[in-house]
Amino acid sequence: MEHTLSYIAYKNSQYRSIKHSTYFETYDELFSRYRGKKITFVEIGVLGGGSLFMWREFFGDQARIIGIDLNPNAKKWEEEGFEIFIGSQSDEKFLADVKRIVGPMDVVLDDGGHTYEQQIVTTENLLANIVDGGMLVVEDTHTSYMPGFGRKKFSFMRYVARFIDRMNHRFSKISGPTDERVWSIQVFESIVAFHVNRAASSRVSAVTDNGGVQDGAIDFRHDDTSVYSKLKNFYLGSTTLKNIPGLKNLIRPVKRLSTLSKGSSRISKYFK
Ligand SMILES: C[S@@+](CC[C@H](N)C(=O)[O-])C[C@H]1O[C@@H](n2cnc3c(N)ncnc32)[C@H](O)[C@@H]1O
Repeated sequence: MEHTLSYIAYKNSQYRSIKHSTYFETYDELFSRYRGKKITFVEIGVLGGGSLFMWREFFGDQARIIGIDLNPNAKKWEEEGFEIFIGSQSDEKFLADVKRIVGPMDVVLDDGGHTYEQQIVTTENLLANIVDGGMLVVEDTHTSYMPGFGRKKFSFMRYVARFIDRMNHRFSKISGPTDERVWSIQVFESIVAFHVNRAASSRVSAVTDNGGVQDGAIDFRHDDTSVYSKLKNFYLGSTTLKNIPGLKNLIRPVKRLSTLSKGSSRISKYFK
């Protein structure tokens, strides 16, 4: 932690900020690529101003650092060259005003109130303004496992799981709601990063073939399903059985059943 650039900037900030020790390596991993660049960085949750100064040192003077907070006290940091917006991150009208005034954003970091409603409304509303190659980062996502932040059924981490479903629905053979903004999601302890890339997220998924020489290899993927493979091999080895009309069709449901139950007793422990 001590050697990370974000921790050094945090320690150098003259105003108070409190952050978890595990966050600094994650910040360096996610944000180092933007250092010294002309970016627009938005942090939700200003509190004592300490993190605004930390980000200014970390990103450099070219970065436009913007703070959002419900507490009007945060407005005073405008005197230090930061842009400050006062309002609630769960107020869609307020967020629309922020988006209109700020314009495209490279990075949004949500360190606000940490309720599921705040985290999800913020993500859904601000993703639209993140540029391609940019990211929206939500921190303190451990609140999804704690009481007092909303109904667990609608926790932020459950939302992330549904978001992953939306990304996988882009696969051509699966239907369901999709997302065409987020190309990948990175999950760290207490931090989730949504990486925006509209072109990559809108690409049509289709089978490709490199046109190489066919050596006649058979796909054995169902052959480790014991019941099915035993039946199939027995059937294939018997001329009598192969001559019984319709028997082949009876083997098919066995294949489906054995695939369904495949290994579930061994893997169920990973779902507890
Ligand atoms: C954890 S503190 C931010 C700490 C700061 N980022 C730092 O590292 O020093 C959370 C801040 O979010 C603000 N906040 C809470 N609910 C909010 C909401 N609904 N909209 C905007 N800001 C909110 C609080 O006023 C508080 O200043």
